[in-house]
Amino acid sequence: MQRILTIIGARPQFIKASVVSRAIKQADGIEEIMLHTGQHFDANMSDIFFNQLGIPRPDIQLNIHSGSHGEMTGRMLAEIEKAIMEHRPDRVLVYGDTNSTLAGALAAAKLHVPVAHVEAGLRSFNMRMPEEVNRILTDQVSDLLFCPTQSALDNLNREGFREKQAKVLRVGDVMQDAALFFAKRAVIPIGLEVPEAFILCTLHRAENTDDPERLAGIVAALNQVHREVAPVVMPVHPRTKAAIERAGLAINVTTIDPVGYFEMVWLLNHCGLVLTDSGGVQKEAFFFGKACVTLRDQTEWVELVEAGANELVGADCQRIEDAVRRHVNRSVEDLHELYGGGRAARAIVDVLAGNAS
Ligand code: UD1
Ligand code: UDP
Repeated sequence: MQRILTIIGARPQFIKASVVSRAIKQADGIEEIMLHTGQHFDANMSDIFFNQLGIPRPDIQLNIHSGSHGEMTGRMLAEIEKAIMEHRPDRVLVYGDTNSTLAGALAAAKLHVPVAHVEAGLRSFNMRMPEEVNRILTDQVSDLLFCPTQSALDNLNREGFREKQAKVLRVGDVMQDAALFFAKRAVIPIGLEVPEAFILCTLHRAENTDDPERLAGIVAALNQVHREVAPVVMPVHPRTKAAIERAGLAINVTTIDPVGYFEMVWLLNHCGLVLTDSGGVQKEAFFFGKACVTLRDQTEWVELVEAGANELVGADCQRIEDAVRRHVNRSVEDLHELYGGGRAARAIVDVLAGNAS
């Protein structure tokens, strides 16, 4: 029996782990131990996903969140190291590019425990993003690198991974597995009076929330779009709520608390456009046939831009409004299975179980 220690901590990791965890349960010969770092801790940022998506309750629950990046990552590193020494896994499994990802990968590597990285090879080429630092370092200490896309695989080849003692595989994107699997569970957010033909917006990246000028530009654009183009519905991330309050900005769109995944799927399915700086939501727009206007200057999901499904507009008010007018109510089609068609979790578990090369 192989023992795998899975490290999760932030909202998108719960969604990604839910599908891999289910595939692990269906496979023979793997025991999964789940560690939740505590990075996300509000009920609607954490518990709700365990309840909705059937993720096993964490065997190890740390309570580490907030503080500076260094402090958060350092505290996680120390506690995950203890958990690895106690539970002696054969492998550690990490997802994405958060501080929880890096802490898990580093703790394992220092104890010579092999690391598998789901969502390997993504790059924004912007080293000021905490996510870029986390993903590059995690890839460096991983020996199993599961790439969601061809461009992720190309990035790793360019960085010389072909010459390393590491297995680099394109398996597809586990978020597409989740979107397909849970699409039929969609539910309307409780209490939301849904306007017709609305625009779905999410915003939380530090590069936007922590830069007062960018945040003001985005909020001004959202207010303008809501008033003149179509109603904007925005589940607000706690970081963004705090930043808007701190900056004293007035946001005049339909704001709601963060929602569960089933509610999010409903919103994605019924909206006329997605406006976001999220990594995951950019792809989910595509999975649900919606165009996406991305409030960033770079994206790791370059194939969406190349396919004409996603336009990068940064944080400039006028650019955002113009792009929204161009793309609203435009549908997009996945002609080439850019993200693997929903078979990623199975492919990952086959490799973990030693049933595939
Ligand atoms: C983190 C990830 C980011 C990912 C995002 C997903 C890092 C560096 N960033 O960003 O890559 O896109 O998660 O959503 O790991 N907070 C709450 N309640 C919660 C969660 C957070 O109040 O349940 C507050 C924290 O106290 C903190 C702020 O929100 O003040 C930001 O949380 P943090 O986990 O540091 O970063 P995210 O912006 O969520
Ligand atoms: N999400 C959710 N509820 C929300 C906002 C987002 O369930 O209120 C889901 C979203 O559908 C996607 C994931 O959270 O699956 C994306 O997480 P987030 O945008 O926080 O992080 P990122 O993908 O940018 O790392």
